[in-house]
Amino acid sequence: MLSDTNNKRAQFSTKIGVIATAVGSAVGLGNIWRFPYEAGSNGGGAFMLCYIFFIFLLGVPLICAEFIVGRSTRSNEIKAFEKLAPGKKWFLNGYIGVLASILILSFYSVVAGWTLEFFIAAVTGRMPSDMSELHDFFSEFISGNWRPLVWTVGFLLLNYLVVSRGVQKGIERLSNCLMPAMTLLLIAFCVNSLFLPGASEGVGFLFSPDFSKIDSHSLLSAMGQAFFSLSIGLGGMLTYASYFPDEVRLGRCATTTAVLDTFVAILAGVIIFPAVFTYGISPQSGPTLVFETLPAIFMNLPGGAIWAALFFFLLFMASITSTISMSEISIAYFEEEKKLCRKKATALTIGIAIVLGAVCALSFGPLSNIRFFGMTVFELFDYVSSNVCLPVGGMVTSVFVGWVIDRKIIDRQLNIRTNSLPWVKLLIFNLRYIAPAAIALIFLNSLGII
Ligand code: PHE
Repeated sequence: MLSDTNNKRAQFSTKIGVIATAVGSAVGLGNIWRFPYEAGSNGGGAFMLCYIFFIFLLGVPLICAEFIVGRSTRSNEIKAFEKLAPGKKWFLNGYIGVLASILILSFYSVVAGWTLEFFIAAVTGRMPSDMSELHDFFSEFISGNWRPLVWTVGFLLLNYLVVSRGVQKGIERLSNCLMPAMTLLLIAFCVNSLFLPGASEGVGFLFSPDFSKIDSHSLLSAMGQAFFSLSIGLGGMLTYASYFPDEVRLGRCATTTAVLDTFVAILAGVIIFPAVFTYGISPQSGPTLVFETLPAIFMNLPGGAIWAALFFFLLFMASITSTISMSEISIAYFEEEKKLCRKKATALTIGIAIVLGAVCALSFGPLSNIRFFGMTVFELFDYVSSNVCLPVGGMVTSVFVGWVIDRKIIDRQLNIRTNSLPWVKLLIFNLRYIAPAAIALIFLNSLGII
């Protein structure tokens, strides 16, 4: 019988620390950079509604599923599937997760590197305040030969420093104090955006859905965004849950994480779109949207450089709490399965990410004509991880928890004594039928198979 506790493994120390860490993993560039650009490219309001729908229909149940697998096994992702279904092939899902985590870490670090460049530009007074100068400043920067590279590598090295110090110390302290500060700052910017001349157009774009803009591709993107934003489908939440103490209530933690994460994404949308319409930026600009829009907002505020510096610093911190959780997926694997010490496991993970991240960093400039299916390497990594690996990983995890693992393990992890609680029944029904069917339908539909 599987043992639920293994005292030798590190654990998070407090309940509030657990929630702060799960939220720290979820809230990051996914909310502030990726959500607005995906919403902008996929029609705005209708995309946002689909995204919120997927967060609650699929996201919350899948976080619970990952939490259950992680905490009941207290292992890395691959071992976790092996422990719960010995001798079966389910552990292969863990490899998809490890692969996706490294792909995401690579391109995510490029964008996190951009936040560092902007932070330094704001602090040193290099950030232009004129719209067209800002545009040139950013496009020259991302298409350059070495600055994006230096920041990507620099960011990954910082990540190495935090992660190699161990689970508890590094991660918990950081997340506890910075997330609330960032939320307050976002609320303040939101209020500011609502007074911009383009506010009503921007808010209309985000809150009056036009469903004719939704097709199978935007549905897949909304689902991919929900997964990316909640760090699910690749075992991010599974790996974190393997360090949770037994008393933490998984259902409550999953819901809190999803609500806070969605709140931050909506705040980001309300900040960005009024400015997009005020400053005449195309909502469909893609990955560069937010980095062209935000500086325009800040530099038009009194004391703009200070706001910009503060914001990009906090965004950098939000990114690092997310990359720590991505790195942890493969580090736990290399440490426990390949028997490397923590430092070596971390160095290997970061080393691979540096090589792949360098290619992504240069794919806005010198390597921009290396394309696969019309996508640059950066876009390819982004697309394949969010729209292929995460949904597939999520579907397998859902079927696994719904059908394969013992109901007693689920009940014990959800702190249930009587097995008739309606929400648990609903959760299991969802994991058995709804989530796998919905993911498969959207996925196959967007491939044009059904
Ligand atoms: N959820 C994180 C964000 O929104 C990104 C992430 C994805 C983190 C996958 C861990 C695993 O920024």
